[in-house]
Amino acid sequence: MKLIGPASAAEFEQYYDLRWKILRAPWNQPRGSEQDTLDATSIHVMVIADNKVALGVGRLHFNTISEAQIRFMAVDVGHQRRGIGTLILKALETRGAELGATRIVLDARETALGFYCKLGYSTTGPGPMLYDRIAHVKMSKLL
Ligand SMILES: CC(C)(COP(=O)(O)OP(=O)(O)OC[C@H]1O[C@@H](n2cnc3c(N)ncnc32)[C@H](O)[C@@H]1OP(=O)(O)O)[C@@H](O)C(=O)NCCC(=O)NCCS
Repeated sequence: MKLIGPASAAEFEQYYDLRWKILRAPWNQPRGSEQDTLDATSIHVMVIADNKVALGVGRLHFNTISEAQIRFMAVDVGHQRRGIGTLILKALETRGAELGATRIVLDARETALGFYCKLGYSTTGPGPMLYDRIAHVKMSKLL
């Protein structure tokens, strides 16, 4: 298992496939719905198995020169709660700090609140409702 920044077309295929499987497919969203226009300029991190299959993914983009946002955190169902999400989140924070971020914000699914709390994020208010069903909470952390 190792942490990489996806670079090749094959790695990005794995990366987006896992993002779609975990964050979009359960809500019957089509392939392609897992991507947005910020992907082209964002920082992407993934954990891959020895056979190169993606086990976890996450993305960071900048909202301002000092505020970065984390989105699309997803770990393969069979590999959750083994520290992979933590590895990815910390790698994104480190890269964000290197690039000048002093604050990270995110919209946490209510079901993942405990994960972000454990990693030092605090709630700042209600977040968006996705597909009329997935409630989010706004969170932030000073680096
Ligand atoms: C949320 C997610 C990214 C966390 O990744 P992970 O690899 O499972 O998390 P880790 O193993 O690094 O967990 C770190 C700590 O957070 C806790 N934690 C993890 N997921 C949690 C959850 N959903 N609720 C509460 N606590 C959680 C773990 O217990 C762990 O604490 P421990 O080390 O004391 O056991 C992953 O479970 C996932 O993909 N979930 C489904 C998709 C999702 O909700 N993504 C986030 C959208 S905002």
